[in-house]
Amino acid sequence: MKPSIIELPKYLDIRGNLSFVEEDTHLPFKIKRVYWIYDVPGGEIRGGHAFKETQELIIALSGSFDVVLHDGEKEHRYSLNRSYYGVLVPKMTWGLMENFSTNSLAVIISSTEYNPDDYVRDFDEYKRLKLVQGDNIVD
Ligand code: TYD
Repeated sequence: MKPSIIELPKYLDIRGNLSFVEEDTHLPFKIKRVYWIYDVPGGEIRGGHAFKETQELIIALSGSFDVVLHDGEKEHRYSLNRSYYGVLVPKMTWGLMENFSTNSLAVIISSTEYNPDDYVRDFDEYKRLKLVQGDNIVD
């Protein structure tokens, strides 16, 4: 699987807009966890790791930030600044988040419960694991 942008429904309304995400309609995984990142000081970078099993959908619920993904060969930058789409991050994708705007709010919908053993925090180790696994198994 490759990273992709998932566009969510949006109901534009003069009373205020509404969007939603449904597990079976919009996601290729079952939701096990939702967490959010907020109050990020200017210039800070979050992430800098890959997950062996976890898949995620990252949405900029408020404000903006960049999600920078690396598949072991190429880097892709996704600038998120709307609450009705997100970037789907497959397992074994190296990623970080940066350029957080003031008061930005990132919500991350995750396919697993928190497990520190699922993290790969060393980029060389990540590239080695990608080579060993090959793209077929990573899918
Ligand atoms: P971490 O994933 O390392 O943050 P980032 O990748 O954005 O730099 O998580 C930071 C801390 O929060 C870490 O000590 C573990 C804790 N944590 C949980 O307890 N549960 C969670 O679901 C997440 C994402 C983190």
